[in-house]
Amino acid sequence: MTQKRVAIAGSSGSIGVQTIDVVLAEPDKYVVSALAVGSSADIVIQQARQLRPELVVVANDECRVQVAQALPGVTVTGTLSDVVDVADVVINGVVGFAGLSVTLETLRSGKTLGLANKESLIAAGPLVQPLRSTPGAQLVPVDSEHCALHQCLRSSFDAGAEVARLVLTASGGPFRGRSAESLQSVTVDEALNHPTWKMGPKITIDSSTLMNKGLEVIEAHELYGTSYDNIDVVVHPQSVVHSMVEFTDGSTIAQLSMPDMRLPIGYALGYPQRISTPFGRIDWNTLSRLDFEAPDRNTFRCLDLAYAAGRLGGTAPAALSAANEVIVDAFLDGRMKWSAIAQHLENVLNRFIATTPTSVDDVLAADAEGRALAQEELSR
Ligand SMILES: NC(=O)c1ccc[n+]([C@@H]2O[C@H](COP(=O)([O-])OP(=O)(O)OC[C@H]3O[C@@H](n4cnc5c(N)ncnc54)[C@H](OP(=O)(O)O)[C@@H]3O)[C@@H](O)[C@H]2O)c1
Repeated sequence: MTQKRVAIAGSSGSIGVQTIDVVLAEPDKYVVSALAVGSSADIVIQQARQLRPELVVVANDECRVQVAQALPGVTVTGTLSDVVDVADVVINGVVGFAGLSVTLETLRSGKTLGLANKESLIAAGPLVQPLRSTPGAQLVPVDSEHCALHQCLRSSFDAGAEVARLVLTASGGPFRGRSAESLQSVTVDEALNHPTWKMGPKITIDSSTLMNKGLEVIEAHELYGTSYDNIDVVVHPQSVVHSMVEFTDGSTIAQLSMPDMRLPIGYALGYPQRISTPFGRIDWNTLSRLDFEAPDRNTFRCLDLAYAAGRLGGTAPAALSAANEVIVDAFLDGRMKWSAIAQHLENVLNRFIATTPTSVDDVLAADAEGRALAQEELSR
């Protein structure tokens, strides 16, 4: 059997490292053909020595020189989308808007895209959509919720007509159950202390504000074409039910597994088949309960801000997502309080005028404006 060539964009990150784990679990089926990072030179050098990819991409100029010197015989470039040329499947685990080029190029090339980089779909949904119909192109979401929805929707004869609503589950993050008042002075460490998932810092902060769930609502709308009125969020602290689809006859189908991102990564690598290595198997003897509750939309206002940006459509999600990156950075650097995140983002959204993007430049302009408005908020 020929091995599938896997390119890992963002190989030094949480998704990237777990992708390597899955590939190594099934060495007869998968081989790493390309690795890409921003500036983590030491990590990518060590990964490349172990995995022997054809290509390594390093965005940062100085780090690229260091990597090229350490890896004689390996092609080392600075253009992220180069990874697509040497792959059958691309896992896009880059954080932030930087991941957009990989998303676009993979679909344009008619290849399978395992998409973890949620920002590219959220910011550039209108540009990504038409590329999904490129012959051979396949977008398989690498996010526990969207992977769950993908699996539930496969059970439908006609998802367009039979789906009543999508229900995204949310762990609730580290501050679930807390009042707005008690969250006035939380620290970065407290916000980074996610109860069920070990992820990169940006998405972990987004989980603490429920912005992550809000961005996932926009992503679900883009992925499955479901209207915002038919996408709901329910808090489920155990993170075992990863999301559900309710059908027109009242039936709900859910996907369950223990929290382990290697399952959605393996699902994307193997699609349309399933891989044979189990990740996140449930031990029904120890799983004692599954709880569900409504999200506290007054304390965690970012959830509804994302719904609002999604309903505005066009460039609004791009601006919100970009502003959120700036604001989250500022919080992580200790330049602002966690409790001010939602207000800053609401002010940005109120000042931003959404248009319909027709090119990457339009999305870049919205991204830049979102960032500039967020900086203005921070310097007030
Ligand atoms: N982690 C999860 O469980 C999870 C779940 C669902 C969705 N996601 C989504 O997946 C994406 C990645 O998340 P993560 O948690 O894995 O983030 P992470 O741990 O912070 O890793 C981010 C990766 O992106 C790379 N990167 C950043 N800028 C780059 C650039 N300009 N060019 C090339 N590579 C660049 C980083 O390289 P350096 O190390 O060199 O900076 C790193 O490898 C995010 O969009 C996140 O929302 C993650």
